[in-house]
Amino acid sequence: MTNERFEAPTPLHPFKKAIVIGAGRGIGEAIARKLTREGYLVGVVSQNFDNAKKVSNQINTDAGEILSLAYTHDVKNFDEVDGLLKQVMDDLGGLDLLVYNAGILLPTTLTTYQFENDRTMMEVNVTGAMAWINAVAPIFQDLKRGQIVGISSVAGDRGRVKNPAYTASKGAFSTYLEAIRNRLSRHGVNVLTVKPGFVQTDMTKNQTGLFWLITPEKAAEDIWKAIKSKKQTIYTPFQWRYLMLVIQHIPSFIFRRLSF
Ligand SMILES: NC(=O)c1ccc[n+]([C@@H]2O[C@H](COP(=O)([O-])OP(=O)(O)OC[C@H]3O[C@@H](n4cnc5c(N)ncnc54)[C@H](OP(=O)(O)O)[C@@H]3O)[C@@H](O)[C@H]2O)c1
Repeated sequence: MTNERFEAPTPLHPFKKAIVIGAGRGIGEAIARKLTREGYLVGVVSQNFDNAKKVSNQINTDAGEILSLAYTHDVKNFDEVDGLLKQVMDDLGGLDLLVYNAGILLPTTLTTYQFENDRTMMEVNVTGAMAWINAVAPIFQDLKRGQIVGISSVAGDRGRVKNPAYTASKGAFSTYLEAIRNRLSRHGVNVLTVKPGFVQTDMTKNQTGLFWLITPEKAAEDIWKAIKSKKQTIYTPFQWRYLMLVIQHIPSFIFRRLSF
């Protein structure tokens, strides 16, 4: 963590406060940048402190004021969450929005079975999210306001032959977010599930056969619009909603023969 502190908000500049988990690169970085442009103070949390610090420094330099702070945290260290959440909330002066974006896709082949990789993907993509959401949900529930955003994936809509654990982790995350939404919406808290298609980041840089590829900035723009209008689930880009509707209805005996 840095030693910089935010200035207290004034009635003329009432910052909202957000934490973005996994904001050191890619989609998370673009979301953190977008939020600061839209009037948020942002806690930039990432596993690699240099990445978090670089993003935070660039945001503050571009803005000409301190709008973000950098924190280091490996989401697999579940026991750190309560302490870090308190620290970030103290530094920011509260919390209005949690974005859980951290995620990994470890490569595999159609004939490879590696439990360690599968477990790591589940821990980063789902269990870490549960640790953060369990810490934040009761705070938002008591406040009767707040927003939680989870970056899931279109990959979670079906069990895909190419990477069983990644698709399972995203399927579990989407289902978990829906359940949390069903709990928290009755307390005035909004929960948004984001299902990106292909986004141009480190995660996709060695992948082939990508289509409808968008930039992280375009994804962040769509996510911001959904935050603003308190949507429940979005696909980015939007046309994935229609493709996935078709794919969800392909019978299993056909789907298992496809390489999708
Ligand atoms: N790119 C796509 O096409 C695509 C499509 C659908 C869904 N998604 C989802 O979108 C999210 C962001 O993906 P991306 O493409 O932007 O990936 P990325 O460029 O690889 O960035 C991943 C981010 O997650 C952080 N992270 C990874 N493991 C972590 C850990 N153990 N603890 C804390 N932070 C960790 C990384 O932190 P460091 O920088 O510190 O390593 C980085 O900031 C992921 O959840 C991914 O599954 C991506």
